[in-house]
Amino acid sequence: MYAIPFLDIPPLRSAAGRVRLPGSKSISNRVLLLAGLAAGTTAVHDLLDSDDTRVMLAALEALGCGLRRDGAVLHVTGIGGALPVKQARLFLGNAGTAMRPLTAALAMLATLQGGEFELSGVPRMHERPIGDLVDALRQLGCPVQYLGNAGYPPLRVGHGRAAPVSTHEPVRVRGDVSSQFLTALLLALPLATADRAITIAVEGELISKPYIDITLNLLARFGIVVERDPADPWASFTLPRGSQYRSPGAIHVEADASSASYFVALGALAGTEAPVRIEGVGLDSIQGDIRFVDAARAMGARVEGGAGWLEVRRGAWPLKAITLDCNHIPDAAMTLAVMGLYADGTTRLTNIASWRVKETDRIAAMAAELRKMGGTVVEGPDFIEVTPPASPAHWRAGVIHTYDDHRMAMCLSLAAFNALAGATPPRPVRILDPQCVAKTFPDYFEALFGLATVAEADIPVIAIDGPTASGKGTLASEVARRLGYALLDSGALYRATALAVQQAGVDPSDAAAVAFLAARLDLRFDAGRAFLAGQDVTDALRLEETGSLASRISVHSAVRHALHGLQLDFRRLPGLVADGRDMGTVVFPGAPLKVFLTASVETRATRRHNQLISRGIPANIDSLLADLRARDERDQNRAVAPLKPAEDAVLLDNSGMSIDEGVEAVLEAWNKRRM
Ligand code: DC
Repeated sequence: MYAIPFLDIPPLRSAAGRVRLPGSKSISNRVLLLAGLAAGTTAVHDLLDSDDTRVMLAALEALGCGLRRDGAVLHVTGIGGALPVKQARLFLGNAGTAMRPLTAALAMLATLQGGEFELSGVPRMHERPIGDLVDALRQLGCPVQYLGNAGYPPLRVGHGRAAPVSTHEPVRVRGDVSSQFLTALLLALPLATADRAITIAVEGELISKPYIDITLNLLARFGIVVERDPADPWASFTLPRGSQYRSPGAIHVEADASSASYFVALGALAGTEAPVRIEGVGLDSIQGDIRFVDAARAMGARVEGGAGWLEVRRGAWPLKAITLDCNHIPDAAMTLAVMGLYADGTTRLTNIASWRVKETDRIAAMAAELRKMGGTVVEGPDFIEVTPPASPAHWRAGVIHTYDDHRMAMCLSLAAFNALAGATPPRPVRILDPQCVAKTFPDYFEALFGLATVAEADIPVIAIDGPTASGKGTLASEVARRLGYALLDSGALYRATALAVQQAGVDPSDAAAVAFLAARLDLRFDAGRAFLAGQDVTDALRLEETGSLASRISVHSAVRHALHGLQLDFRRLPGLVADGRDMGTVVFPGAPLKVFLTASVETRATRRHNQLISRGIPANIDSLLADLRARDERDQNRAVAPLKPAEDAVLLDNSGMSIDEGVEAVLEAWNKRRM
């Protein structure tokens, strides 16, 4: 997949509509591991499809679990506690929810059954601490070796010889760095309870308790009932003797409550009387981050909800600044920091030290990026304070670093609502490496753009005009792909009209008759194919004779007029690359970048010749030259919308350029103009 270097989000104005969120990462990866360890087959519904779950699935497959996809359901056949594969190297990307529990489970299995496994990840994964978990595993007598720096992955667990684990003493684990260590032990220890119960004793104040609740909840679904002391339920956890995973048969993964926070914020910032409706997760959620709803309400959001749904409208505006201990909602709290840009004072989020050991140092990252938008930020070891820009004129157009952290990208996209805080002028937000959202929410930006409204004039358009066979089409589609923009091939509309004219047997010089057909064009683009009245016309559109006829009918102003509205409809978030003859001059005269592409007629004839030959169509260079000259003549000299560069167009002669050089030239011009 090509990595889109950045995504420009134009100023957003309001939000309403329905969004169905992808499954929770935390639940997905816990369920996958439990199903992978259990005996029997589990049908997993609504599993999140993301980088982190793919990493877990690949690991389970390498360990010998059976995986079978059946539509939206994944059937996982577990190993039933016995290792079919005793040696493997697992690459776990940047997925903490895979690294920690797999380390614990494999350490246990490798020790008891004589296996040896290596676990590694991306460089950032090797900077995320795991020492407290390793210490706990060593107390149990599991051989664990650091392969890089002590305290961090990569790791080797087991050394190939079977040995008992020592479960006489309670296992002590720190609870104040990451709750994932405790989760990892809770998920792994049922593998070692054949002879006696095991108790885990938590040292230090346990953070992120709600994630432990998710773990306990899911363990119960897989037949493991953890015993706790009602007087002090977070201090110790006992796995009874004879605990054994049993598949529940089927299990549904809730949508991600942390992901819901962006849409709750969307409603709080930009909701209208028609709410932002969130589906897949609701007030009955087992995920702690659902408590974000209370925080959003405290800032002014109007939130209603039930089982599996939430509806959010804007309440107080500006939002109300709050001071909040965020220990219970560590991930969703990041969203509050961005909402702080829209508050009536300073928002202070405390008890968030765990931010520093996540995908990136989130306190430092958040502080740096909110400042770019014009906010004033104070950071401390375990807190952050956000004050909105001092006045509407203090907002800035930020170029936002995302640090390979999905939540940074999703959070900071909310800064694009600055027009609602009066930012003058409204500021776009440039999100670098936007595809990092794939970690948990691959279609995040599509979902955002599906709900947000924007002033049409703010949707960026890159107009690429030029004569026939100048390479516009290839250039335009490549630029669109690299920017994640929509593409308008306006020539295709004229060509489709030409086909309709042919089919109807209409006289091409009869302007009114052709315009009548153009206005009723039933044209649809789907997965790179074009359909006219339901019929696939992709190849017919490209024929030389179709192009010639298109050129002839395009001289009629009534025809151009009939196709005008259709072309404007292509202007959609996050932006449009429009390719044609009059994109910069007539259809999108306000486009912030206009490129006029030229190449000598000889170069163009050669390119067209090669193109036709490569498609197995016989071609003659001389007749192509003559044809191109005639077409240029007609396109340039017609009375309406003649082919000519817009006054403010960038002229690009690509005669001596490769496709890639042309694309780079356009992207460079775009970068210069935008920010
Ligand atoms: O770009 P193309 O070769 O597919 O275009 C076919 C014809 O359509 C072209 O010769 C002129 C006409 N056209 C136009 O007049 N205005 C446009 N925006 C696009 C194409």
